[in-house]
Amino acid sequence: MTNPILDQLNNHRSIRQFTDVALTETEIETLVNAAQHAPTSTFSQQYSIISITDPATLQALATITGHAWLKSSGHYFVMVADQYRNLQITESANRDTTLLHSTDKFLASVFDTAIATENIVIAAESVGLGSTIMGSILNHAGQVINLLSLPELTFPLLGIAVGHPAYQPDLKPRMPQTMMHFADTYQLPADFKAQLADYDDELTAYYQQRDSNTKQENFSHHLVRELSRDLNVRADLAALVKQQGFKLD
Ligand SMILES: Cc1cc2nc3c(=O)[nH]c(=O)nc-3n(C[C@H](O)[C@H](O)[C@H](O)COP(=O)(O)O)c2cc1C
Repeated sequence: MTNPILDQLNNHRSIRQFTDVALTETEIETLVNAAQHAPTSTFSQQYSIISITDPATLQALATITGHAWLKSSGHYFVMVADQYRNLQITESANRDTTLLHSTDKFLASVFDTAIATENIVIAAESVGLGSTIMGSILNHAGQVINLLSLPELTFPLLGIAVGHPAYQPDLKPRMPQTMMHFADTYQLPADFKAQLADYDDELTAYYQQRDSNTKQENFSHHLVRELSRDLNVRADLAALVKQQGFKLD
C-alpha cells in the first residue's frame, strides 16, 4: 500500500547538516500549528514550545547536547512537558491541583510533548525541510531548566533542530516486523537470534556503504555501546523531575 503520506513517513531520515537559510516566520508558525493539531491526552494540551532565538542560548544548548551543528540549523525548538499552564487555570478556578503533580499527569505531558514533536518532524519534511530530534538536552536538564526559566510542573524533554537539508543521508534500515510486532501477547520469535543476526548483517552493510561516516557497526553492538556509557550522565533526571514538582510515586 502506498500514498504520498506513507512515502514521506517511510523516507524519514534525521538531518544534521543544513544550508544557512533560516526558517521564515510563516514556516515556524506552520510547524507550531502542526504540533498543535496533534492528538493530546484528555484534550489538556500539556506541553509548550520554546523557539530559541538568542545566540547565547543556542550556544549553551550546543554545549549541553554536544551537538555544535545545531547552531547551523534554520530554527531550534525546545519541547517542554507542561502542566504549569493548567496549574494556573486550576488555581484560578479554586480547584484542587493535586492531580497535576501526579505521575499520571507527568506521563500525559510527556506523551503530548513527544507526539507534538513528531508532528513537527513530519510537517517539516512535508515542506522540504529536515530535522533532528534531540534527547541530548537531557545531558544537563538542570541547566536547560535554568536557561529557559522553566517554572514548576514543566520539564524540558526534547530539542528539535530544523532547517533546509544540505545533505540527504541514506535511509537507516529498521528491524523486521517479526521482531517487534506480535499478536495478542508479547512473544519474541523462536528464531529471534537468527533474525537479529540477519538484521545485524543488514546494518553492517548499511554502515559500510553509506555516503558519510562509514563505520564497522551493527544493531547489537550499537545498542550495547549506547548502554555502556557513563552511568553518571543523566543520573539526575528523577530528582530533577521531582524538583519541578512532579511526584513520581
Ligand atoms: C527521543 C529521541 C531523541 C533523539 N536524540 C538525538 C540526539 O540527541 N542527537 C541526535 O543526533 N539524534 C537524536 N535522535 C535521532 C535518532 O538518532 C535517529 O532518529 C535514529 O538514529 C534513527 O535515524 P533516522 O531518524 O535518520 O531514521 C533522537 C531521536 C529520538 C526519537
